[in-house]
Amino acid sequence: MDALVKSEGNSPTPRDLLLQRYYVQQDEETHLRDYWRIILKHRWIVLTVFAMIVTTATIYTFSLTPTYRATASLKIDYERPQILSFQEIGSPGHQNFGPEFMGTQQKLLQSRSLAKRVIETLKASGQPIALADPASADSAGALNNWPVWITNLFGSSSSTPKDAIEPALRSESETGPTEEQVMARKVDALLSTLTVEPVRTTNLVKISFTTPSSGLSSLLANTWTKAFIDHSLEMKYNATSQAGEWLSKQLQDVRDKLEQSEAALHEFVKQKQILTIGEKKDIVTTKLGDLSEALTKAQGERISKEALYRQSQKMRFDSIPAVLENSMIANLRAEYYKLDSEYRRQSETYKPGYPKMVRLRDGMDQIKRQIEVEIARIVDAINQEYEAALKKEQLLQSAVNAQKHLAIALNQELIGYDMLKRDVDTNRQIYSGILERQKQAGVSQGLAASNVQIVDTAEVPSVPFSPNKTRNILLGIVLGLTVAVGMAFFFDYLDNTVKHPEALERTLGIPNLALIPSLASALPRQGRGRLSRNGSNGHGNGTPVFALVAHSDLRSTLTEAFRTLRTSLLFSSAGSPPKTILFTSAQPSEGKTGLSINTAITLSQLGGSVLLIDADMRRPSCHAQLELPLKAGLSDYLTGNADLVSAIKGTAVPNLYCIPAGTIPVNPAELLASARMKDTIDLLSQRFDYIVVDSPPIFGVADALILSTVVKGVILVVHGGRTPREMVQRAFKNLIELNAPVLGAVLNNVDIRGNGYPHYYHYYYNHYQQASSGAAPEPAHNETQASNLEP
Ligand SMILES: Nc1ncnc2c1ncn2[C@@H]1O[C@H](COP(=O)(O)OP(=O)(O)OP(=O)(O)O)[C@@H](O)[C@H]1O
Ligand SMILES: [Mg+2]
Repeated sequence: MDALVKSEGNSPTPRDLLLQRYYVQQDEETHLRDYWRIILKHRWIVLTVFAMIVTTATIYTFSLTPTYRATASLKIDYERPQILSFQEIGSPGHQNFGPEFMGTQQKLLQSRSLAKRVIETLKASGQPIALADPASADSAGALNNWPVWITNLFGSSSSTPKDAIEPALRSESETGPTEEQVMARKVDALLSTLTVEPVRTTNLVKISFTTPSSGLSSLLANTWTKAFIDHSLEMKYNATSQAGEWLSKQLQDVRDKLEQSEAALHEFVKQKQILTIGEKKDIVTTKLGDLSEALTKAQGERISKEALYRQSQKMRFDSIPAVLENSMIANLRAEYYKLDSEYRRQSETYKPGYPKMVRLRDGMDQIKRQIEVEIARIVDAINQEYEAALKKEQLLQSAVNAQKHLAIALNQELIGYDMLKRDVDTNRQIYSGILERQKQAGVSQGLAASNVQIVDTAEVPSVPFSPNKTRNILLGIVLGLTVAVGMAFFFDYLDNTVKHPEALERTLGIPNLALIPSLASALPRQGRGRLSRNGSNGHGNGTPVFALVAHSDLRSTLTEAFRTLRTSLLFSSAGSPPKTILFTSAQPSEGKTGLSINTAITLSQLGGSVLLIDADMRRPSCHAQLELPLKAGLSDYLTGNADLVSAIKGTAVPNLYCIPAGTIPVNPAELLASARMKDTIDLLSQRFDYIVVDSPPIFGVADALILSTVVKGVILVVHGGRTPREMVQRAFKNLIELNAPVLGAVLNNVDIRGNGYPHYYHYYYNHYQQASSGAAPEPAHNETQASNLEP
């Protein structure tokens, strides 16, 4: 694109730079507008789809049988089962408070057993008749059997249980359903209308019933909550009565044990005469103490006596205190020592045989014997004392031993007694504990306190719960909008034609020189009625003809668009504007001829002479539009059958001349490729200010591509919303490959009404129309402004 814009010069012109900046800005800004344009373009699809969806949603909503929802709320507290205090600790079964507890309660609230209970309760109370739907009140027979009625009722309102049940009913019609099956269906029907919702972070649970009858809904919700409380109480009662039974069995066992242990104790006491055992024990202990003390004493005595005894046995009488302390012996000894000293003194004088001496000796001997007798008596006494002490000790020792045995025996009896007694005490303790618990269980069994409380009873709803008309319709609107817009985008996606100048420039990279609106969309409302169906052939009856609109209607939007194209052409290349311009297109009927003529007209309005050459020798039409003869024309001149002057024809448009196609030749491509053609163009470009060449389409014939090399500028006409992008791209590529001087493309025949095209087309047109209405004179063909545009 840049290469095209730059055209001949190497350095970009200020115009190139401005255009570049413009494209960048366009890239950034156009996304949202693109979306809006797509929606506007497919507005009929959008509106139709939207209307269809919203209408369907509305009809569906209003066709639904209204259902009413009644809600009751319950508070469920956690309660520990109180059976035995020691069982509560560490019992895993009872540590389920928290989400599990509420989850369990929720499941219990949705249990089939509860549904059965409710069915039975309502059946027993006969309430459904009183609270039945007024619409069904006349069918009293059906109402008496209300669960069937409720099943039918739900079945008729929605796709609930009936659909599921009906096939089963048919297959069972021969045998008839059993009572259990009927109940199961009723339970299913009931549960399908129930909603249980715990209120987050609280102990509250909401129980809702949605049925076609408001009274029935509230009745069901209230009955359900009551039934749940009864159910939980019953479960509690069962639990406590089971515990009670277990306790009484335990109590019996413990009582038996207690009795046994008491009997054993009693027997023991009787046998061992345990009642006096206390005294006995005291006596035995005291006596044992006394005896031990006496034994110790006797032992001490015996030891001291034994020492004397042993001394006496060793004849060491002098160390025996009794001998030493004996006064008689002392006296005798004193006398003996006196006689002995006398004897020693006399022996110095007398001989031992001397009578005095003999007498002395005898006296001494006598004293000695007396001493010995006395000692012997003392020793004898010591012996006796020792033996007595020994005997006493032995006696005491055996008495102590006997007493010890007695004490041990007594102790053993006491231990046995204690064991039995302890047994009895323990059993008695257990017995009284169980007895107490049993009494408590009995009391709680009788208590009707529940951990479930009704917080709110269900009221009879006055407004239907479903269908929520506003919500459904709003949803319909949202869905409708989404689908409708989605479809618009989908259709737009499927449509791969070039619809917008931006698409040309951004997607295909071809500069857009101008946008030519379709004749119908460019006309004011009152003018459109005058338009013939194909937009052409209006000569003489005042109807605008597209090919001549730039001449016939100077103030029209289309003419403005052609002036824009002219300006773009004049400024399309640096330096002088191209003198020879070729109009071609990818496929037929894109508006080449119409654009060639109108461009030639607008160029002629600048004052210079302009030549229009109809080089489309296959389907020539310039002559017809300009009301000229076909011959002699280009082909005639190129084949040498006519001269150039006779081929160039003046037209009704001042300054505009035309060479019609001439006789349709067999070989147009060859004629166009000839050197004569190139020379002719060169020659004519010297004579005319501008030469505009109309040509056949690029695809199918080579004519246009051949011509593209002999002109100074090529314009690719693209029929907006009809020519596929790929075709435009290929045509453009073919031209580029031949080094054709492509100036850009013109998006033609675009419906500018509401396709997101700027308002100014209409605005300027209308403004212009009003300003010039009535008195404003038609400007001359050679407009003064035109000269200003001359580069
Ligand atoms: N902008 C337009 N508004 C209304 N009608 C248009 C417009 N452009 C072209 N037409 C009409 O489309 C038809 C084909 O136009 P035209 O003959 O100019 O196309 P063409 O490319 O020259 O066709 P061919 O390939 O046959 O030569 C004509 O009836 C013409 O009036
Ligand atoms: Mg044509």
